[in-house]
Formats: sequence, structure tokens, C-alpha cells
Amino acid sequence: MTTEQFGRDMFEDFDIDAPEFNDHFTDVLDELVAKCPVAHSTVGEGYHVINRYEDVKAAGQDWQTFSSAKGFQPNRAEGVPYLYPEESDPPYHNSWRSALNPFFAPGPVSDMEDSIRADAKELIASFVNDGKAEFVSQFAAELPGRAFFKNLIGVPVEDLPMILKAMDDHIYGPVDQRAESLGVALGYLGNYLSARKDQPSTGDLIDVIAAGVERDGELCPWEDRVSILTDLTLGGIATTTYVMSGAVHYLATHPEARKKLVDDPDLIPNAVEEFVRYFPPVVALGRSVTKDVEFAGYQFKKDDFVLLNYASASRDPAAIDDPQTVDIERDKILHTAFGVGVHRCIGSHLARLELRIVLEELLSAIPDFSVKEGTVPSYETGVLRTMKSLDLVF
Ligand code: HEM
Repeated sequence: MTTEQFGRDMFEDFDIDAPEFNDHFTDVLDELVAKCPVAHSTVGEGYHVINRYEDVKAAGQDWQTFSSAKGFQPNRAEGVPYLYPEESDPPYHNSWRSALNPFFAPGPVSDMEDSIRADAKELIASFVNDGKAEFVSQFAAELPGRAFFKNLIGVPVEDLPMILKAMDDHIYGPVDQRAESLGVALGYLGNYLSARKDQPSTGDLIDVIAAGVERDGELCPWEDRVSILTDLTLGGIATTTYVMSGAVHYLATHPEARKKLVDDPDLIPNAVEEFVRYFPPVVALGRSVTKDVEFAGYQFKKDDFVLLNYASASRDPAAIDDPQTVDIERDKILHTAFGVGVHRCIGSHLARLELRIVLEELLSAIPDFSVKEGTVPSYETGVLRTMKSLDLVF
């Protein structure tokens, strides 16, 4: 019975924001995969959670039945504007992805390597001689934002803490304050986009967003363009942090794996993929069911809200051998951490690049590190998951 195990019935009374889920994260995911293809929630208007690999993949690929147009958060707070491209369906979604994809393709992303590496080195240099670091605030929360701001949108890095806080409050804060927190980010990024619109175009990402795309035969509204910039920023600064911290915590507690990567850095890209699978920052995102349909053995009704549990699907033994084990030398790494179907993550190449650089630079500067005695990492979970603190000594 999951109530005895976790203090809550995770099959019939699931709550993605519940502390019990945050505290027993991987155990709950594994129970869901093993015993409950579709879990149910009674929170607010209620929702359902699809947990197994093949089902998550099939639902993610069927956007006609599982639509993103009504948003990705269950019990969406009143007054929260939609975040595009995530909270839209084709054909509007396609128009934006066609405009944005070129900036996130492998070629342009690989041009960012030197700049990201310089920031990684600078951040490591700021604590390397201290013999200790709180890795999340001193590195993992900082690097993705710097990479995204400097290489893609040109927003001043000094404003990163304010935007990070607004995004964090929007995802993990009390439901009735989420609209207001998102409003802070939307307001700031809207002003920035507006100022750039009046300057001569250089054809960069901001110019392409400011120019807009067609929606229903007309140029899309200005708010949609601010929404695009905000969604990209959320993805760019609020996800990779968790994989980075999870990976570093794992290496701090598994010296044999750390030594393998120090001795053979060519293994790092494979390890990165395994860490993305194992430490999924996007836990589960929502879809609205567009028609009555039987799926994964459950009869869904039109307008039901479902979460695609990307985190559990990546731990499904039907798809991955021995999924509960981190294996940096794993042969074929199958996972849903970057999503599936039309909304598949636009930032995956950038995320992989950041993670590779972090491991290369950290292991070369500090090959031997461990978790400070008497401390454990702390986490925060909602539709996204992140690590809040990780005390290292070296
Ligand atoms: C390890 C890091 C990351 C992970 C695990 C991740 C995961 C995901 C997932 C699961 C989705 C699918 C959303 C859905 O199904 O509705 C997604 C979409 C998205 N991601 Fe990422 N992401 C990461 C990094 C990034 C970065 C660095 C950026 C931006 C620079 C980014 C921007 C986006 C955007 C804009 C979307 C929406 C795409 C669409 O709706 O077409 N992500 N991401």
C-alpha cells in the first residue's frame, strides 16, 4: 500500500506538489511504473498521470488527442498567460518551432562552447581554493542562466537572480501566487523585447522573436512573442541545474565512477546522457484530452487533464535494463527526459553541451571531492524538480 510506504496514496490521490512526492521521489516513480499505468489525483479539479514508457511515448506523439493548448500545469492558476511554444498545438506550434529551431541546432550551439567553458572556469575558480562549495548556488544555478543569457538572448547576467526567483516561485510556490510570479518574468522580458524591437535588426534570436510569426492568417499578437521569450528562458535557466547537481552528487558519492571519468574523459558524453535520464528536471507535463478515448487501460473523457510522467517513463524496466542503477557506461540510453513528439525539447543540444563542459572542467580542476559530512542535498519538486543545496568538500 503506498500510503504506508509514502504517507500518501500515490495511485488514487497523487499530488505532484506534495512533500511526500518530493521526499520519496524515485521510490514513488518506481511504484507507479510497476503497479499503476494510470494514477489519479483528487487535487483541485483532479487529473490523471500516465506512467509507463510506451504509454508516455504514444501519448506524447499524439498531440491531436493529448493537446497542449490548455497548458502544462494541472489546476492552472487563474490568470496565468499561456507559455508558447509549449502550451500550443500545431499548426501555430510548427510556425514557432520553424522560426526558433535554427538557433538551437547542433552547429550554432557548438559555437557557444568557448563562452560557456570560460564561465564554467570562472565559477570554479571562485571556490576552488576554499576547500568547500555549496555547489547549487555557487555553480549549478548560475551556469545555465549565464549560458542562455550571454549566447542566446543578451539579457544582462546581473538580472539572472531576479528572473530565477520569479521562475522558481512560479513553478514551486503556492498555487495562488504563481500567476503573479510569472508576471514578474513576463514584465521584465516584455520590456526587454520591446526595447530591442526598436533597434535595427541583426537577425538574432531576439529579432526573430520580436518579428513574430503568423497566427490564423495574421501576425501573432505581441503578447505571444513575450510568451515565447519567457518559455525559452524558463527552459533555459530552470532545468539543466538539476541534472548538473544530480550528476555531481552522484560523482561525489561514487568515487569509482568519478575516477573512470577523470581517467577517460571520452566517457563523459555517455555519462551525461545517463545523468539526464536519471535526474529528470522535467518531471511531468500536462495535456488536455480532446475526445473520449481508452488509453493505457483507462477510459479517459474529453477535457480530462493528464500528466505525462517523463521521469517515471525513463525508469521503466520494459524499456531500460536495470533502470534504477546509474551506469555511466550504459550501451543504449533510452529515456523520455527531453520529452517526445512535437514538443520535444528545443534546448537539448545546449543542455548536453553545458553538462559535458561542467564535468570536463570540474573533474579536471577538482578530481577528488565528496559531500560534506552530516549534510544531505535538499530538493524541490512540482512539474519540475531541482536540487536546492549540495555541500561539497575537497
Ligand atoms: C537537461 C535539461 C533539459 C531537460 C531535461 C528538458 C526537458 C524538456 C522536456 C521534457 C520538454 C517537453 C515539454 C512538453 O512535453 O510539453 C522540453 C521542452 C522545451 N524545452 Fe527543454 N529541457 C532542458 C533544457 C532546456 C534548455 C537549455 C532550453 C532552452 C535553452 C529548453 C527549452 C525548452 C522549450 C522552449 C521547450 C518547449 C518546446 C515546445 O513546446 O516545442 N530546455 N524540455
